[in-house]
Amino acid sequence: MTVLAERPVAATTTRERRRSAATQVVTTKADLSAARAQLSGSVAVVMTMGALHDGHAELIRAARERAEHVVVTIFVNPLQFGDPVDLANYPRTLAADLRLCRQLDVDLVFAPPVDEMYPGGVPIVTVRAGSVAARFEGADRPGHFDGVCTVVAKLLHLTDPDIAVFGEKDAQQLAVIRAMVRDLDFRVEVVGVPTVRESDGVARSSRNLLLTEEQRRVAAAIPRAIAAARSAAADGNPAKLVAAAARSALERAPGIDPAYVALVDDATWADADASTTSARLLIAARVGGIRLIDNEQIRLRSR
Ligand code: PAF
Repeated sequence: MTVLAERPVAATTTRERRRSAATQVVTTKADLSAARAQLSGSVAVVMTMGALHDGHAELIRAARERAEHVVVTIFVNPLQFGDPVDLANYPRTLAADLRLCRQLDVDLVFAPPVDEMYPGGVPIVTVRAGSVAARFEGADRPGHFDGVCTVVAKLLHLTDPDIAVFGEKDAQQLAVIRAMVRDLDFRVEVVGVPTVRESDGVARSSRNLLLTEEQRRVAAAIPRAIAAARSAAADGNPAKLVAAAARSALERAPGIDPAYVALVDDATWADADASTTSARLLIAARVGGIRLIDNEQIRLRSR
């Protein structure tokens, strides 16, 4: 079994640094199975594609609060990328990721190569994500959520957790995974953790690493659009005008190309209407070639 040893670095609390102990790093299913068997007590898993940032650290901390052991998976899943260029360009920072996992006292990291997860190439049987996946990210990225569900299902089987922690930043992904876990009777509790934001409101994302300084400044138009929607909602506007306020704020911003701006019912994911009180604003936009997504819960006045 591969057990790598590296020194902790900054960006964690003193307590976390002091606690830092051996984190096992495994790359094969057989080693994962052996290491998982050693973890007695509750286990929480945090699934990632690496390039870990503060948002992931929050997920790991949330996992740590809820379970005795934390397992992190690091795997850039080819099945969920439609565009081979996007897959090739996805940031890969394994050494730094492992340092952060050690600082955060992760018990076990599973970082398999592609042929360990998909030894026969694209699997014959995959999970179909269903209706929640049909719009927004699912419409813009055909097959994306099928790929996500397939790898999440495999990783749930392989890591066998009590709890699986996901970020609310990928709100549609979270909704799709909740539906899969419910409909296919996975025995796991799915926990959503609120989005971590930079000081200008931009959501933390591994994709931010791909932005130039100027593009990163431009990306701040997204939280400004969210703020416009919030303020339209606070003024008592109906759902359509709340979404329109966000859309026009985004369209006015130079250098950003909106893919969609939508307001959905937070529970059903149908378009928000006069009966909706808890809505979710969904935004996807390209800055340079980089596709960014964000979302925020918006309270609407009942009408
Ligand atoms: O959110 C992600 O990083 C990925 O979609 C996930 C859940 C790890 C599946 O590859």
